[in-house]
Amino acid sequence: MQLNQIELTNYRNYNQLTLNFSPKLNVFVGDNAQGKTNLLESIYVLSLTKSHRSNHEKELIQWDKDFARIEGQISKKNGDIDLTMIVSNKGKKTKVNGLEQTKLSQYIGYLNVILFAPEDLSLVKGSPQYRRKFLDMEIGQINSQYLHHLSNYQTVLKQRNQYLKKTAFNKSYDSLYLDVLNEQLAQEGSFVLFSRLYFIKLLEKWANSIHENISYGKEELRVSYKSTLELSAEQTREELYHLLMEELKKTEERDLTQLTTNVGPHRDDLVFMVNGQNVQTYGSQGQQRTTALSVKLAEIELINEEIGEYPILLLDDVLSELDDERQVQLMEFIDNKLQTFLTTTSVTHLNDKLKIKPEIFYVTNGEVERTSEDVDG
Ligand SMILES: Nc1ncnc2c1ncn2[C@@H]1O[C@H](COP(=O)(O)OP(=O)(O)O)[C@@H](O)[C@H]1O
Ligand SMILES: [Mg+2]
Repeated sequence: MQLNQIELTNYRNYNQLTLNFSPKLNVFVGDNAQGKTNLLESIYVLSLTKSHRSNHEKELIQWDKDFARIEGQISKKNGDIDLTMIVSNKGKKTKVNGLEQTKLSQYIGYLNVILFAPEDLSLVKGSPQYRRKFLDMEIGQINSQYLHHLSNYQTVLKQRNQYLKKTAFNKSYDSLYLDVLNEQLAQEGSFVLFSRLYFIKLLEKWANSIHENISYGKEELRVSYKSTLELSAEQTREELYHLLMEELKKTEERDLTQLTTNVGPHRDDLVFMVNGQNVQTYGSQGQQRTTALSVKLAEIELINEEIGEYPILLLDDVLSELDDERQVQLMEFIDNKLQTFLTTTSVTHLNDKLKIKPEIFYVTNGEVERTSEDVDG
């Protein structure tokens, strides 16, 4: 798929901007704090309705304005689609071909993006919370039901935790009520678990082979799911439901003392092993980078496998984070395969690593200038 055009209104430091893109490589060049990341972010938000660097959508609105709008025109195998995403004081509004979408889960998935930014090293080094967020965002893109079930799960979890806290005051509890909550939690939680396990199986297959390539056969990467439940291979959703019910019951006493829910997907994590060693704890900086890169590239192949076309790739300042060899490998991977948007402070270092002629956009303080007028396909 590709993004042909984007139009921004009151978005961060862009008043009003319309850009037409090349179906291949688009490069945003400029000094710091000019608006390069803002551009990539706007594409990300158009796809996922959330920013990768802020939890508060209102930050996207230009300081003295009361709404921000992103409009994108995309081409997919089955035709062209117009997407609109508006943020205002009243919240978010999304449109597909001009029609307002009532649920975000209906909207997300039309445009698939993979973003790779320096912070993505946190995928390996960061907290479990970061890795769960990664899982949730990526699965949400290929499975439209996922975010819906996840949000139900989180709602029930919150209710259960609130109830557990209340029992401390009341010094008694209603075991039937807890059963009802457990059952709802297991319903939603088993969906979340099942989807995550499926996703990781696909991810690991691709990450493993890409990592082998990048390390010239020297390293073997394994990706696995670390659960608070004792999972065995190939469990059905039904089996996961029963397992979750059992475990919730088993830990109920501990939950009642600690006043929180100790088992379930909200406590799970991802583990990366290179040549049998946990990269999080034992990996060198280089191995951690290669691992993060392999996982990101794996996602690209995974999306292609799942939905039948390549997503859009957003690379924010990553070249400066990778050594020359990895930069070349990354560029070789992209080749002509998928539409890519890349930010950099200097194009001179870039040119010798590229096989494709990039479309260059110079970004200066919320204004963008393109080097050539027409897009060559
Ligand atoms: N809501 C906003 N309204 C107006 N300007 C903003 C807003 N949010 C960020 N900016 C401006 O955007 C600029 C940063 O843009 P960014 O894309 O991060 O830069 P870079 O080119 O380094 O990637 C800063 O000058 C900042 O003041
Ligand atoms: Mg930036």
